[in-house]
Amino acid sequence: MSAIKILDNLYSIGVIDWNVRTFHGHTYTTKRGTTYNAYLIIDEKIALVDTVLGSFSAELIENIKQIIPPEKIDYVIANHVETDHSGALPELMKLCSKAKVLGTQKCKEGLFKNYYENWDFQVVKTGDTLKLGKRTLSFLEVPMIHWPDSMFTYCPEDALLMPNDAFGQHFATSERFADEVDQCSLWDEAAKYYGNILWPLGVIILKKIEEVKKMGLPIKIIAPSHGVIWRKDPMQIVEKYVYWAKNSAMPKVVIAYETMWGSTEKMARKIADGILESGVSVKIFDVTTSDRTEIIKEMLDSKGFIFGSSTHDNSMLPSMAGFLEFVRGLTPKNRIAAAFGSFGWAGGAVKDLEELINRSGLTLAQPGIGIKYVPDEAESKRCYEFGKEFAAKIKGG
Ligand code: FEO
Repeated sequence: MSAIKILDNLYSIGVIDWNVRTFHGHTYTTKRGTTYNAYLIIDEKIALVDTVLGSFSAELIENIKQIIPPEKIDYVIANHVETDHSGALPELMKLCSKAKVLGTQKCKEGLFKNYYENWDFQVVKTGDTLKLGKRTLSFLEVPMIHWPDSMFTYCPEDALLMPNDAFGQHFATSERFADEVDQCSLWDEAAKYYGNILWPLGVIILKKIEEVKKMGLPIKIIAPSHGVIWRKDPMQIVEKYVYWAKNSAMPKVVIAYETMWGSTEKMARKIADGILESGVSVKIFDVTTSDRTEIIKEMLDSKGFIFGSSTHDNSMLPSMAGFLEFVRGLTPKNRIAAAFGSFGWAGGAVKDLEELINRSGLTLAQPGIGIKYVPDEAESKRCYEFGKEFAAKIKGG
């Protein structure tokens, strides 16, 4: 990606990572790639807001060179220490060693522990401002959105918010603006990003959005550090965050299971029939063949989850156990759940699933159902009724 003018004397100079397919280790799949956005502001003083992943340092520097020689940069704003945004700092700072780096105290500590460099660092707090000339930058600490060091940078002259990770999407596109891209893909990626990264932080997100609203800052553009920039009705993504952060959900059920010889799968399909018959939307996923990132996205707006596993060694199957541990970390609220599974001689999986449901803070809606070997006609009917009973609870609120 070359430098792209966003506003007069303000450029997007980040990079597109078309082929990255996993993120945060292997906790997140990025089937549409991602971008690492950074913004260059030319004024009496020159500021760079964020950098990019270290492996793209040369491309970032080339993009900067299209506008100015890098040694002219006066300030580098580090909104976030995570290396997808700070990784290019070591190479960049070799070229602009007189530049001052600005960020939170936690960012200062984090950058040092990542790079062991003694850059000229100025710690900033909420309300601090930096006058560049015609433009001003002001800073807002946003701890735990999504790391302790996280910060937003705001330019009042343009009503421009640069919130780093918040409101982003892992979405590689040659277009730079949300109104230029396929809307289904955009919202799919925005939901996936919230569900898999920000879901546990709803309380903090709501509080911070309220705080920003009370400050009365006009916002005309939201330029995150991943994906596209929101310029037409930018508050739509903020309102969506409020909806997700409130743990709002639809009358929809996600059934996620792992099956050994197919009986648990048969149960899943019968349970789904009962749910559908009740007029409630349902999606079924085998956790061994489905993408966990996609399942979580579907769970984000679902009121109910039903988890299934065959019994193996008196317990649930391992992929299901891993999946549920991930769900537990997301701490979903205001959701109901139930468990099911087949077994050969002694059960165990349903009990384990229910234990993890309880530990996840989900509400166990009804006793689980276990079937020995292959469900017969009567047992299939029981699964169907199990689904209907669960759907009734979904519809009952
Ligand atoms: Fe995109 Fe928290 O890094």
